[in-house]
Amino acid sequence: MSQVGDYSDKVMDHFMNPRNVGEIDGASGVGTVGNAVCGDIMRMYLDIDKGGVIRDAKFKTFGCGAAVATSSMATELVRGKTTDEALAVTNKAVMEALDGLPPVKVHCSLLAEEAIHAALWDYAQKNNITIEGLKPPVTDINETKEFYEMQDV
Ligand code: FES
Repeated sequence: MSQVGDYSDKVMDHFMNPRNVGEIDGASGVGTVGNAVCGDIMRMYLDIDKGGVIRDAKFKTFGCGAAVATSSMATELVRGKTTDEALAVTNKAVMEALDGLPPVKVHCSLLAEEAIHAALWDYAQKNNITIEGLKPPVTDINETKEFYEMQDV
C-alpha cells in the first residue's frame, strides 16, 4: 500500500474525490455532529425506504481531510444496508475500509459514526420506532465515552 504522508491511498482518494457529497431533499433522517475542540462539523442525510433499507446517503462536512474521507466512506458503507446493519458501521469499520488513519486522526472517524447514529435517531423519532441499541445522539463528540477513551491512548 503506497501512502501520501501518513495517509493511505484510499483516504487520499476519498478526500480528493469524496462520494455522495450533498443533501437529500425530504431525507428520512438528518444528523449533525461536531467536535467543539477542532470546530469540525458533519451532517449526514439518509433516505430510508418503508422496509427500513437505506436507499441513499449523503453528507456535508466542514472539516479536516480525514473527516471528509471518513464521511465519504461512511455513506458508501451504509448505502443498501438496513438501519440495524447501519448501526453496526462503527468508526473502526470506516477506518478499516479506508486502510487505516494516523493515530492523531482516529477521532475524526468518530464524527462519521456519530453522524450516522444521529441521522438514524432522527429517522426513528420521526417514525416513532425503536432501533435496538441506538442511543440518543450527541451534538459534540467530546461528550462520547469513546472519545474520552481515545484521549487516554
Ligand atoms: Fe476535526 Fe479531524 S481534526 S474532525
